[in-house]
Amino acid sequence: MLALRRSSVAAGFFGAVLAAGATAFAGVTGSIHDFSARGWTGGESCKVCHVPHHAEQTLADAPLWNHTTTVAAFTLYRSSTLHKTVGEPGTRSKACLSCHDGTVALNSFGGAVGGEFAAGRALVGPDLSDDHPVGIAFYHAPGLVCSNCHGGRPMRLVSTLPFFDGKVECASCHDVHNQRVGGARLVRTTLAGSALCLHCHPK
Ligand code: HEC
Ligand code: HEC
Ligand code: HEC
Ligand code: HEC
Ligand code: HEC
Repeated sequence: MLALRRSSVAAGFFGAVLAAGATAFAGVTGSIHDFSARGWTGGESCKVCHVPHHAEQTLADAPLWNHTTTVAAFTLYRSSTLHKTVGEPGTRSKACLSCHDGTVALNSFGGAVGGEFAAGRALVGPDLSDDHPVGIAFYHAPGLVCSNCHGGRPMRLVSTLPFFDGKVECASCHDVHNQRVGGARLVRTTLAGSALCLHCHPK
């Protein structure tokens, strides 16, 4: 049996910085997810989403989560050509959807109930049928470059794009802590030459 780490996320925040390597990591400050200028944060950017103690436990694997979590019923992506089954969005996707499905206010965190909701392009909504599937296991299509994602002995998962329990979630493609660099929307690797897509799809 091959021993593979369940998630390729580099351990810890600084690991993630290193793993980002050539990709444009620039941090939360001044990013689109930096709400510290809004009155309801008291000037702190992290606490809208994280808290060091007494974290929200409804989402089992959302790291030290402080935001009220969504309980929406999601419409999942469907397609006759899929090889894997689309499941409910995983914990890490539900963390994003807790603002991006538009059912929970941005400023509902730490037990407070706010009234400011995601709108415009940021509103993904609970209908995920027109979105790239999440909550779906990785499919090994013929022609993949193994070293994009595996390395070492025993073989480990070392993908720069993380999987969560082997599944694709929002955070596989997006770095929530990033800035909008080069026009791309918080993606973990460049869209130039379709590099992001080609990492997982040998097309
Ligand atoms: C808009 C919400 C949001 C804000 C603001 C935010 N985070 Fe996160 N953070 C997330 C989500 C969602 C995840 C889980 C997805 C992932 O692992 O990328 C996460 C994961 C993490 C992780 C674990 C995974 C990793 O990347 O190492 C750490 C550590 C972390 N955040 C620290 C911070 C700190 C420190 C701040 C403030 C400077 C911050 N976050 C601001 C949403 C946020
Ligand atoms: C606290 C609420 C909140 C959480 C949690 C959150 N977001 Fe956002 N996100 C927003 C808002 C609000 C905007 C739009 C802000 C604006 O337009 O000023 C946004 C914008 C974005 C954008 C568009 C960036 C751009 O440049 O247009 C992306 C991509 C995104 N978020 C992805 C994610 C992902 C992925 C996660 C989870 C890993 C996540 N967000 C978690 C509130 C959130
Ligand atoms: C885009 C990333 C990616 C690429 C490229 C990739 N794999 Fe994987 N591989 C994964 C993921 C994700 C898993 C599931 C790991 C988990 O569940 O912990 C996996 C699991 C495996 C496993 C364990 C058995 C299984 O199916 O769960 C084997 C063996 C494997 N890959 C072989 C390969 C080989 C050989 C190649 C090249 C032809 C390759 N992989 C290319 C992401 C990738
Ligand atoms: C397979 C990769 C991938 C996955 C998975 C993914 N996204 Fe995206 N997302 C992208 C790309 C690529 C863009 C467009 C970037 C650009 O053009 O700047 C984008 C754009 C966005 C935007 C900006 C609005 C728009 O439509 O362009 C938001 C908000 C967003 N994603 C949120 C999410 C959320 C929430 C999830 C999980 C439910 C998610 N994304 C899953 C790749 C992905
Ligand atoms: C982290 C890995 C990953 C990345 C990055 C990624 N995808 Fe995917 N994508 C998947 C997986 C896994 C599936 C489900 C494949 C299956 O079950 O056959 C999928 C499904 C799809 C499908 C639906 C296929 C069908 O049969 O309905 C399309 C189209 C697609 N991806 C396009 C893209 C595009 C375009 C990009 C870049 C913006 C992208 N993907 C980035 C992993 C990824």
